[in-house]
Amino acid sequence: MQGARILLIVGGGIAAYKACELIRLIRKAGATVRCVLTAGGAHFVTPMTLAALSEQPVHTSLWDLKDEAEMGHIQLSRQADLVVVCPATADLLARMAAGIADDLATTLLLATDKPVLAAPAMNVRMWRHAATRRNVAALRGDGVTVLEPDEGAMACGEYGPGRLPQPEAIMAAIAEALARLSPSTSPPTPSPTPSEVEGRLPPAPSEVEGRLPLAGRHILVTAGPTHEPIDPVRYIANRSSGRQGFAIAAALAALGARVSLVAGPVALPTPPGVARIDVETAREMAAAVAAALPADAAVMVAAVADWRVADVGERKLKKTGDGAPPPLALVENPDILAGLARDPRRPPLLIGFAAETHDVVPHAIAKRARKGADWIVANDVSGDVMGGAANTVHIVTADGVESWEELPKEQVATRLADRIAAAIGRTRA
Ligand code: C5P
Repeated sequence: MQGARILLIVGGGIAAYKACELIRLIRKAGATVRCVLTAGGAHFVTPMTLAALSEQPVHTSLWDLKDEAEMGHIQLSRQADLVVVCPATADLLARMAAGIADDLATTLLLATDKPVLAAPAMNVRMWRHAATRRNVAALRGDGVTVLEPDEGAMACGEYGPGRLPQPEAIMAAIAEALARLSPSTSPPTPSPTPSEVEGRLPPAPSEVEGRLPLAGRHILVTAGPTHEPIDPVRYIANRSSGRQGFAIAAALAALGARVSLVAGPVALPTPPGVARIDVETAREMAAAVAAALPADAAVMVAAVADWRVADVGERKLKKTGDGAPPPLALVENPDILAGLARDPRRPPLLIGFAAETHDVVPHAIAKRARKGADWIVANDVSGDVMGGAANTVHIVTADGVESWEELPKEQVATRLADRIAAAIGRTRA
């Protein structure tokens, strides 16, 4: 991050005080930070605080003629490598999504040609409101990285998702966003001439697309196991940790995709920029997948239970005393992948996983045909792959089989995301 220039927009919420810590961390990492404070933000932190921490002038008004003479708002939005909105309130996200430019912050956000990263913070009901969900989805579709808020107790006394992510997590997302920038953005950007300004407002789609190959693409990922209840306290499960699917969701989001992650019961943090839908059973997963359509691609990594218990007891099953176990009749669960392959809304690229213990590739070739998937990622689970950190995979496509060496699951994810970008990304060959 050494030498990077961050434009930090501080919105109006109680979490604004955490922006102060963020400034400290950004500067500690060797980057410079220039702050824009909204009118709401100024109720929580003062321009003086931000100026003292950043050692830079703080901008608050669109109508500050002195600033406009010295540094117009267009230049302000361009003379940065990355624009960070922290905290991004429900109101600020809504105005960003609608393209409103009625104050300095929103004008900069509309005028910028740089990547934008937003760290939301709001009440749990505001975060879950359909309007906010729509706005976040629209922003992600536009290529804005909107982080998932943390879950926990809120200043307003309620509990749930909506807390500002920890400054360290925001820093990690900033570092990731900067790492994605092309080298050409690293040297200082000269101030654009007035004709350049005219010609570059709003940013041409090709500029955005060139930066993030999956910008504007919606990708559905399933991950983790499913739990099939036996009675109110027991369930059938499997050993899937969700790590591979979560890593794939993160890698796709890092390439700019809008990612819907349908996750079975796992205790993993939601990757930045990913919309997560938690489910428990295979039937809930099938419903969530259907609700998330349409998608440009689907990567079905979940280890879906093949069977569920036919009659789930409303009360806990008790031992009878005669030593005879209760009969457990099983019925087959829907095959979500095969169902999606037959669906009229089938994503153009449909990828399944195959966990096998023997004859990995022949089984995967047969599975690709049987399920109607475009690619099957076959992994050998005879070792400790399920729950482990590494994976050895074979990519089975119509063109043949590509075998990868054993790799950390994160690297499997980034390679697969690159392959997906090559197939459906805007900059595909
Ligand atoms: O048949 P098998 O479970 O080996 O197939 C694995 C692939 O099919 C994975 O992509 C998995 O997510 C998907 N699957 C599914 N619904 C099921 C079973 C598997 O989507 N009921």
